[in-house]
Amino acid sequence: MEPLAWLTCPDPKLSDALAYLAHNPGKQLRSRLTLACAELIAGSPVPEATWVGEAIELLHTYSLIHDDLPAMDDDDLRRGQPTLHCAFDEATAILTGDGLQAAAFQRVADIESLTAEQRLSIIKIMSTAVGFNGMVGGQALDLAAEQQAISVEDLRAVHYLKTGALIRAAAEAGAVCGQATLAERQALVRFAEAIGLAFQVTDDVLDVTGDSAQLGKTAGKDERAEKSTYVSTLGLSGAQQEAERLLLEATDALSVFGDRATPLRSLAVAMVKRDT
Ligand code: IPE
Ligand code: IPE
Ligand code: MG
Ligand code: MG
Ligand code: MG
Repeated sequence: MEPLAWLTCPDPKLSDALAYLAHNPGKQLRSRLTLACAELIAGSPVPEATWVGEAIELLHTYSLIHDDLPAMDDDDLRRGQPTLHCAFDEATAILTGDGLQAAAFQRVADIESLTAEQRLSIIKIMSTAVGFNGMVGGQALDLAAEQQAISVEDLRAVHYLKTGALIRAAAEAGAVCGQATLAERQALVRFAEAIGLAFQVTDDVLDVTGDSAQLGKTAGKDERAEKSTYVSTLGLSGAQQEAERLLLEATDALSVFGDRATPLRSLAVAMVKRDT
């Protein structure tokens, strides 16, 4: 999948920024989730889920570009290369993020082989996931929790919004592509809520246990920025145990699908037991 391949811009700097991003599209776990959920429901690969997955990856990439800005996490390394605002400038990073967000919705609106109802439903899922009651709200809460001791319940709410909401959307959009029943969709949402949290807990753990070369982003950053994380709240082994518990909770939600969910179970394990 090449989530950025179709994007063009008349401005040479933004065009170069898009080419720069295309060098390393990241792990693409969210689009794999969309594909796996659609295929689980439909019983065979769903081509439209590829394009919806690409759109979700555009939202995710936009969120990372803005997350790295000096006014937010102020990071200089992402996906193994200088962050966009370091390689270019802040205005380019802000505008590229803005453009990617719009492009994500355009991508879904353009999928003519989905019904208008499916497209609208997916656009609603995506916009809710990244809006004030989703990723953006979570990012604001994350920044507000710097240098604060917050409860594990509050931290869970932050993680659920800043990271979990888009992961949930990736699964739910896949369910819509596969024409899931309400019960199937609910089971996938329960799965994705647990795996989304587990994913961010693992991100917090890797910030402590990983190194920058392996992660492709600056290790040890959370402690230096005095972030509220699962490691700062529960300790390293407490956070690792919580990731395991959430992984079990996620795979439990898939039991209704039996063996058909084996690929999705493997993806869930890869999202939590990773070193990058
Ligand atoms: C990193 O996400 C940011 C979080 C939401 C924790 P990923 O680890 O999926 O980043 P890429 O897309 O592979 O770079
Ligand atoms: C990012 O969380 C969540 C987003 C919405 C992008 P982090 O700030 O922990 O992600 P990294 O560690 O910089 O990738
Ligand atoms: Mg952040
Ligand atoms: Mg960050
Ligand atoms: Mg992190």
